[in-house]
Parts: sequence; C-alpha cells; structure tokens
Amino acid sequence: MRVLIVGASGLVGSAMMRVIPALDPNAVVLGTYRSRPWPGLMQLDAANTRAVRDILTDTRPDVILFPAAMPDVEWCEAHEAQAREANLAPLRAVLAGSRKPVIAFSSDYVFDGTAGPYAEDAPRHPLSVYGHIKADVEDETLAAGGAVVRTTGVFGTERPPGKNFVVRLIASLREKKPVTVPTDQLATPTYSDDLAAATYRIALRRGTGMWHVGGPDMLSRFDLARAVAEEFALDASTLRGVTTAELKQKAARPLAGGLRNARYEREFGAEPVRPVRDALREMRDAMSVAT
Ligand SMILES: NC(=O)c1ccc[n+]([C@@H]2O[C@H](COP(=O)([O-])OP(=O)(O)OC[C@H]3O[C@@H](n4cnc5c(N)ncnc54)[C@H](OP(=O)(O)O)[C@@H]3O)[C@@H](O)[C@H]2O)c1
Repeated sequence: MRVLIVGASGLVGSAMMRVIPALDPNAVVLGTYRSRPWPGLMQLDAANTRAVRDILTDTRPDVILFPAAMPDVEWCEAHEAQAREANLAPLRAVLAGSRKPVIAFSSDYVFDGTAGPYAEDAPRHPLSVYGHIKADVEDETLAAGGAVVRTTGVFGTERPPGKNFVVRLIASLREKKPVTVPTDQLATPTYSDDLAAATYRIALRRGTGMWHVGGPDMLSRFDLARAVAEEFALDASTLRGVTTAELKQKAARPLAGGLRNARYEREFGAEPVRPVRDALREMRDAMSVAT
C-alpha cells in the first residue's frame, strides 16, 4: 500500500507518519508539510491545484490521508471567509486531482453538544464556523466517494512546540503556571497513535463513508487535566476549573460532545482507542525515554 499523507507535519499527520510503518512494514508512507518543514516530508500547499496534480503523479499513492486543515476554532470564528478558503480549497484540489480514495478528518464540533457522545448517524447541528466548515468537508468528501474520520480532543506525543492540550498542560504544570480549564465541556479524548492506526485499518479495508474514532472515556477538560497531573506526578494546585461561559470564547462549543465508534466496533469487533489513563502512561514512558 502506497500512502500519501497531506498535512503530515501536524498532530494527526505526524502520528500517522510514525505509526503506519510500524503497523505495516510493507507500507510506503509519504508525507507533506505546508509551512513547518520536517526531514523526509515534501513541501506542498494543497490549495495549489497544479502542485497537487504534480505530487499525485510523482508519488502514485493508493490512498490519500488528508489531515490538512486550519483547525484553530477561535481563528475560524473571527475569519470566516479566510477559514473557509484555507480549509476547503486544499480539500477540493485533492478530491478533484485524485482518482484514488481520500480519507478526510472531521470533528464532533459538527454536533451541538446536547446529547453526546454521538454515533455516526446522529443529526448534525454545528454551533461554530469551524463546525460548519467541517460539515462541508464531510459533504464534499463523501460526495466524491471518499471516507471521513470524525475524531475529538486528540492528544499524544508531538514534536516541539507541541500544541495539543495534554502536551501544553504538562509544560504549564511543570513551570507552575496557572491553567484555566473548562469543567463543563465534555468529550471522548482520543490518543493520536490509536487514531492513526484505526485510520490506516479503515484505509486497508477501502472503507468509504462516515467513521467515528474517539476514545472510550467521556470526561470534561478539567477531569482530563487532573488525570494528566496525576499520571505525570505534577502539582495540580495551579489548575482552575471554570465554566465555558466564564471563558468568553468567541466560538460556541458543544458541551456534551464526544463520539461513539458504533461502526468501527461493528466492523472491526474492537474499540479503536485505548482509555485515557493507558494512553497517558504510554506518553509518560515515551517522554521519559526522549528526555
Ligand atoms: N486535533 C484535534 O483535537 C482534532 C479534533 C477533531 C478533529 N480534528 C481534525 O483532524 C485533522 C488534523 O488535525 P491536527 O490537529 O493534526 O491539525 P494540525 O496539527 O493543525 O495540522 C494541520 C496540518 O495541515 C497542514 N496544512 C494546513 N494548510 C495546508 C495546505 N493549504 N496545504 C497542505 N497542508 C496544509 C499543516 O501543515 P504546516 O503545519 O506545515 O503548515 C499541518 O500539517 C483536521 O481536519 C482537524 O480538523 C482534529
């Protein structure tokens, strides 16, 4: 299997670059970055249709995994037109340029958070610009015959500067910085390495349509932060729980978000993602080897 990962310099893409070759030594895994170079990755701005065509011709992938996005929820809310263009133009170029299957990524932010965790067939009702853009990503990918993997609260080891919640939280607690975390935003945090492996299994099966890949634990950001502090033996006294209303974020958040992996469990007979505590322990071991 020849795999092209567009957006391999990000959190999800870099996990797939790491995990897929370990899972399948016969896989040929190629990846691109847009602005953050990394050894072995090719530069690509996927909004450039000609560059997309050239890279597809050069790399001849059997499947394209497409984590490329500008997923900053607050930035999207404040820059709607720019955010739509930045998220949808690259996807459209890849869908138009490829005859091979494309797997794109979406989020539980397509739901309104009144009834999570959600199964694949739950009705969508996005609350934010980001959520609306993700709904369009889903529609356009599915209309082109591809697959969509919805995920949520992805965390895992990441090269510096790590941007995921867990890595940033560990850094802040180590420096004894105050951290404010919402107590009323619940989701099913997802370990990046398990998301990567599940996505590859879906690709191997040529799975089209909608897939949910989220963790098995439904918990608030605050409870996740406490679990991180415990597992990494960090002083949690600088952690402060607040309500979402107090945070005054620009974009509305789904409060009871999260995902149920109904289809994945049915078709693979297994949970795709390990429990949060197990993932944190693996991260802790990996990070202690790295330092
Ligand atoms: N992280 C989460 O918790 C989470 C939750 C739910 C859904 N998702 C979805 O999962 C996907 C991956 O998220 P992520 O956290 O890995 O995002 P990320 O860390 O911000 O990575 C985004 C990637 O997209 C690349 N990119 C951006 N614009 C591009 C363009 N025009 N052409 C080519 N590449 C471009 C970036 O390259 P450079 O950085 O090199 O510029 C980077 O490699 C997104 O669709 C996101 O919406 C993520």
